[in-house]
Amino acid sequence: MSTLPKLSDRHVDARNYPPGVSFMDGQYLPIHEAKLSVLDYGFLHSDATYDVVHVWKGAFFRLDDHLDRFFRGMGELHMSIPYDRAQVAEILHNCVALSGLENAYVEFICTRGTSPDFSRDPRDAENRFIAFAIPFGSVANKQQLEKGLHLAVTDILRIPALSVDPTVKNYHWLDMIKALYVAYDLGADTAILVDGSGDISEGPGFNVFVIKDGAVSTPGASVLLGVTRQTVFEICKEMRLECQVRAISRSDLLNADEVFITSTAGGVMPVSKVDGRSIGSGAIGTQSKRIMDRYWQLHDAPRHRTPVSYA
Ligand SMILES: Cc1ncc(COP(=O)(O)O)c(C=O)c1O
Repeated sequence: MSTLPKLSDRHVDARNYPPGVSFMDGQYLPIHEAKLSVLDYGFLHSDATYDVVHVWKGAFFRLDDHLDRFFRGMGELHMSIPYDRAQVAEILHNCVALSGLENAYVEFICTRGTSPDFSRDPRDAENRFIAFAIPFGSVANKQQLEKGLHLAVTDILRIPALSVDPTVKNYHWLDMIKALYVAYDLGADTAILVDGSGDISEGPGFNVFVIKDGAVSTPGASVLLGVTRQTVFEICKEMRLECQVRAISRSDLLNADEVFITSTAGGVMPVSKVDGRSIGSGAIGTQSKRIMDRYWQLHDAPRHRTPVSYA
């Protein structure tokens, strides 16, 4: 019979992590030291809300919009943290400044947390706030940004709004992960999920746009109201491009002149193929390119920038 192992008082984590800085339980830590309790309901039940903002060339982009969405989400989920909006902004700022990253992916999370007696009543739990800054990451890699992504439209239903409000940013991602495996089996780069009517909803971490006969459109149901999506609305207005929020069918997507996806993780990203079929000429669409370029130019606009002080 084997002997019982000893309880170790120190744990050495041999996994590799990207560089970065986290804030957790009142302190700033190197990212590899930021660990969550195994009893946290954020982990056990995906009971959490979060947001992701990026820092580009040393400044947050649209920080206020991300803070608005985060605080609204916490309210909807009956969560509270001991930090107000200004303090959360300061914590995010400090994570980036301490990491020294000029281009960063900054995530902030509120988990349901833990309750001392492992009570199943969510009202007994002490909510936990966590934030971290790591190097900027994108849904699309360099080659996909240059050539356009290949999307697969799956039959997988995005978790319905009657179950989980998609406008509260959430970790209900098993539908997304399932869709990714379907897409990989089909040789695509990423996946689209559908809503209850079989229309296009969103993909793992992004919103979807189509352009047909000069008009831009994106779904309104079963989607996160993306901050990048909002930026595209503003760009379309500025460029006098018609832009509609409407139901988009699978065939609308397949027959579009241009398709692109949007996320804080990558910005506006072109799509050149859907279900193995080329979109338009199969190259990055002219309007998509203009919108992409304008998106990155807007990062210099003072109204959207919150500079990081690295001193
Ligand atoms: C499910 C989902 N949809 C859409 C988006 C895009 O939102 P945003 O542009 O605010 O990053 C995200 C971002 O992570 C997401 O997780």
